[in-house]
Amino acid sequence: MKHYHSMKHWLKLDPQEQQARITAALEHNIDFKHKTSLGIPASKLDSKVFYDQAPFLKDAPFLQAIVQNPNHIGCHTLGESEHYFAGTQAIEREVIHMLCEDIFGAEENSYDGYIASGGTEANIQAVWMYRNLFINEYKARPEEILLLASEDTHYSVAKASNLLQIRHRSVPVDRDSRQIDLNALDQIVSEEKNKGKKYIIVISNVGTTMFGSIDNPDDYARVLAQHGLNFKVHMDAAFGGFIYPLVAGDHNVGFKNPHVSSITLDAHKMLQAPYGTGVFLSRKGLINNVYTKEAQYVNGMDITLCGSRSGANAIAVWMIMKTYGPYGWLEKLNTLLYRTDRCCYHLDLCGVRYYRHPKMNIITIRAEDMPASLAEEFGLVPDTHDGAANWYKIVVMEHVEIEMLKAFTDKLEAYCKQNKTQ
Ligand SMILES: Cc1ncc(COP(=O)(O)O)c(C=O)c1O
Repeated sequence: MKHYHSMKHWLKLDPQEQQARITAALEHNIDFKHKTSLGIPASKLDSKVFYDQAPFLKDAPFLQAIVQNPNHIGCHTLGESEHYFAGTQAIEREVIHMLCEDIFGAEENSYDGYIASGGTEANIQAVWMYRNLFINEYKARPEEILLLASEDTHYSVAKASNLLQIRHRSVPVDRDSRQIDLNALDQIVSEEKNKGKKYIIVISNVGTTMFGSIDNPDDYARVLAQHGLNFKVHMDAAFGGFIYPLVAGDHNVGFKNPHVSSITLDAHKMLQAPYGTGVFLSRKGLINNVYTKEAQYVNGMDITLCGSRSGANAIAVWMIMKTYGPYGWLEKLNTLLYRTDRCCYHLDLCGVRYYRHPKMNIITIRAEDMPASLAEEFGLVPDTHDGAANWYKIVVMEHVEIEMLKAFTDKLEAYCKQNKTQ
């Protein structure tokens, strides 16, 4: 990430400035009431149900956007787009600039991106894009392509494998460090190469769902290069994208790393945006591999997995980032990390075993070290709902306050003391 003072796009804006910008953007979109538009199968929200003259809307730019209902179909960082929604598409473009340049260190004009429905879509979009790239550029046969990801990877990667009919191998990780087992990776790659795999799609995690662990994309790159295989690396930063690159100092999970070609983020996780707000980012020249030329009635290139999508979601991300600004966001992250540190301190006092990446706000406790009843009482999430849990996780979000964490560790401490004396 850039130094905070050299951010180019991600600057704090006060609510009045945000309101003025969003109102101007909405005015630049089609006005269904005053402009004749007989052909587009869209309109603002039904005015009988969603009254658009309600006085509070004046001061609520996100709700104004919801009511006006802009459709951001397509991708707005390349080619043409539907001009009816050009005003708010520009706001989405600004979000993509903030993320690619200011958080993930990309050079200007070197990337594409769009607001996807979530992390699942963005991950599938990545696998789809690389599968087609290998087919288009190298005449790869689908059976020569392999999808590689750690055993802690989100199940959306299994969905991608199933949908796109690409073989998926799961790489084991060390039980305690959650780091990829490099010997096992080497072994899997050898086996698959011997079976004819030549093209590898890697999903490398920036914050796994259950542990918040961070994979090293260079580990994959090194092993695959040693085997002389052609590969592309996608980062699944659905959970960690709005935290890890901002607090980690020097890191290799962004576009400064030449091995990294694309990134998933979810604004509806750490950023607390409304659901339906994932993000897909990729280096320029890649997304064209999923161009659907049959989409002729849509103006612009249809190169996204989803079709119609709400422009209001992009506005929500923009508003959250602009409200905090980079310093305000860092302050919020540090509060969450501080709470996580405190909880870990108390777990250490009890001698309870857990995994926690020091720059992440997830604590994953060994199930043997705590009673299931306590997990239930405090709403910890188990790694499986199918039989006995191995792990329970705490995700320190905004609503998880120190008092709640302390109440939990106090009870856990009492349990541990009692266990010791028995
Ligand atoms: C690491 C990771 N990737 C992808 C996803 C899928 O995200 P979504 O539920 O937004 O589709 C999740 C969801 O928990 C996740 O944790």
